[in-house]
Amino acid sequence: MKADNRLHFGVPILEVQLQEVRDRAADIAQALLQLRATESGIQRSNQRGWHSADDLFNRPEPVYPWLSDVIFQIAGKLIRHAERLPDDEELLLSSLWANINDAGAWNAPHAHLPCEWSGVLYIDVNETPAESQSGIHDGDILFFDPIPVGAPYRPAATVAYTPKIGTLYVFPSYLLHMVAPHFDERPRISLAFNFRIARNLKQFAR
Ligand SMILES: [Fe+2]
Repeated sequence: MKADNRLHFGVPILEVQLQEVRDRAADIAQALLQLRATESGIQRSNQRGWHSADDLFNRPEPVYPWLSDVIFQIAGKLIRHAERLPDDEELLLSSLWANINDAGAWNAPHAHLPCEWSGVLYIDVNETPAESQSGIHDGDILFFDPIPVGAPYRPAATVAYTPKIGTLYVFPSYLLHMVAPHFDERPRISLAFNFRIARNLKQFAR
């Protein structure tokens, strides 16, 4: 597996391209659009967009256990690498949900604390979106520097990434991020997830 560590702001943002997800993306998108047609969804950072329940790994349709397994294996490997955790360190996929953004929908800035690691996997995106301003494209994911002072002390306070279908990003859950609106007819479809390091949940004084 070839992964990139973008290390923006000194924070690990790990990226990998998953061909097996790209190959099945049309089927996955169809399943998620079907789910949206039957479930009203929940309100989180989504503005105008649809956010599914956050336990998609409990759904019976075969695509969901398959996705859970791919994410658990691949993101787990990236997290172990970034944290220098041994292979037997217990990681928990604690939530998995879908976002479907129609034209004009976006996601407000947010983080995923108190989880340790979070990520996103893209199912249907415009891979050649229009550029708006300052190098930001419609539908980009933007990350915010945890010390957002900008020049002359730091790099620009935000960085924008343009994902492809099958791109997976993993980043620390404290990292503030948002999704820019897009204006395409096709909805922007992504999955998002949180991981916990089991050891941290088991450490109590009493
Ligand atoms: Fe998020």
